[in-house]
Amino acid sequence: MLLPSFQALVKGSPILPVLHMESVDDAINVSRALYAGGIDSVEIVLRSPVALDCIRAVKEQMPEITVGVGTLTNSLQVKEAVSAGAQFLVSPSFTKSLASSMIDTGLPILPGVATPSEITQALELGLTEMKFFPAEQYGGVNGLKALSSVFSQVKFCPTGGVGPHNINDYFALESIFAVGGSWMVAKDLVNQKNWSQISRLSEQAISSVKRLREL
Ligand code: 3PG
Repeated sequence: MLLPSFQALVKGSPILPVLHMESVDDAINVSRALYAGGIDSVEIVLRSPVALDCIRAVKEQMPEITVGVGTLTNSLQVKEAVSAGAQFLVSPSFTKSLASSMIDTGLPILPGVATPSEITQALELGLTEMKFFPAEQYGGVNGLKALSSVFSQVKFCPTGGVGPHNINDYFALESIFAVGGSWMVAKDLVNQKNWSQISRLSEQAISSVKRLREL
């Protein structure tokens, strides 16, 4: 089966912001601020009671943004997220049954892996795009280099501990196609409704990438 490309989805702005939202209004405002800063996809994580409502609202009100779901850990959540309108699916972990239920949706997917065995299991399902999570805690750039030298067919989106201090080091690796993270949508910025700073941090992140990659 030909799987839809996650890389193609984030090609224009290969930064995947991880949004942990407590209100629909915040989700809309944050998405607007990210878009103003040049980021056109958002991952809304299923770690708050309003996450599915946020996905629905961003999909309806901001067609210029591609909205996906994160922190999927079971197939029921996959179904609920797809019903809410999620356009891509991200999980922090890998199991064959979870990944299979994600594949069955026909949407671009990004399963989370951290070890050679998980990568091998994902490859067995035909997957070649993976989230390396939690990136910094599992060896960061050096860990990823070691994995990539063995699994040269895999492209990664490192997430977890990525920020302005190390984004250039990650993008220097050929094996990564994007990075994920929450630094530009940090809780205090959202609580302070500091939308302009969210836009600024997004712009800075996109500028860093542009110095290393053609977008
Ligand atoms: C998450 O799911 O919370 C992501 O891994 C974000 O990680 P970060 O907050 O370290 O960017």
